[in-house]
Amino acid sequence: MASQKKTMRALQYDKYGGGAERLKHVEVPVPSPKKEEVLLKLEAASINPIDWKLQKGMARPFLPRKFPFTPGASLPTAASTALQQLKAAGVSSFDDGSGDTHGPKNVLVTAASGGVGHYAVQLAKLAGLHVTATCGARNLGLVGDLGADEALDYKTPEGARLQSPSGRKYDAVMHCATGTPWSVFAPVLADKATVADVTPGVAATAKSFLQKVTFAKQRLVPLLLEPKKEEMEWLVDMTRQGKLKTVIDSRYPLSRAQEAWAKSIEGHATGKIVVEMGGDE
Ligand SMILES: NC(=O)c1ccc[n+]([C@@H]2O[C@H](COP(=O)([O-])OP(=O)(O)OC[C@H]3O[C@@H](n4cnc5c(N)ncnc54)[C@H](OP(=O)(O)O)[C@@H]3O)[C@@H](O)[C@H]2O)c1
Repeated sequence: MASQKKTMRALQYDKYGGGAERLKHVEVPVPSPKKEEVLLKLEAASINPIDWKLQKGMARPFLPRKFPFTPGASLPTAASTALQQLKAAGVSSFDDGSGDTHGPKNVLVTAASGGVGHYAVQLAKLAGLHVTATCGARNLGLVGDLGADEALDYKTPEGARLQSPSGRKYDAVMHCATGTPWSVFAPVLADKATVADVTPGVAATAKSFLQKVTFAKQRLVPLLLEPKKEEMEWLVDMTRQGKLKTVIDSRYPLSRAQEAWAKSIEGHATGKIVVEMGGDE
């Protein structure tokens, strides 16, 4: 008699679109690891905007999905993205907080209260940089606690202009918000500056190309996370040492993962939205 394959709970969607309501709870076979793969039992995962952006079909032209699709668990996405943003802007030393003589000095982190931004603030401080952060009024205190030297409410006129309260020009911008045109960045940047943009649209990508071919000193650099083992190990180490903290917006059991998904779509999380697999729920 054939042995019954073990199953596990999963969340799936079977076509593009539909948001949280289209997610289905299903039982799927526990995968069998191939050579050089390991099978992990997950206790928790986090929702990242990329999860629902993929469901919306935003990457369809480049990365078509096969359905039904089971979103992956992506706890380290946000911290790795923040680290790669800082590296893309020329930050190379994070360990001693004394700063790098050749790298940027003054950085702006936009959407500093979000999943990526709250790590970017902390990592920039580990690198010894002066950090200006933008967030909503309710999170000004939080980003200060994370280490930001000054913070701006993005809904005020100064915040919309990304203007440093101390009058600094930014050597680098960790851009985690969406929809900011280059004309907003240009007046607040130092002569030589990098905007590491994790949310580039068509206009930003075109601008970046133009700047590259004209050897512009102020550059917008679109960034797509490339997970790297050594960076993840370093981030885990920083977390173990208590130097990098994760702010948890909310926790949901797997049975209520749709609510977590909907919360991420709303775009108002403070830190990370976590889905927990353990427990009986
Ligand atoms: N390229 C890549 O590889 C990559 C990797 C990871 C993430 N991303 C992208 O990066 C973006 C940020 O991701 P995330 O996980 O950090 O998002 P998130 O956690 O959903 O961000 C939500 C936070 O951003 C704040 N916020 C929204 N608009 C803002 C603005 N204009 N100025 C300042 N703060 C603002 C919100 O504050 P309020 O609630 O006060 O409005 C909220 O606290 C997403 O678009 C995501 O898709 C890209």
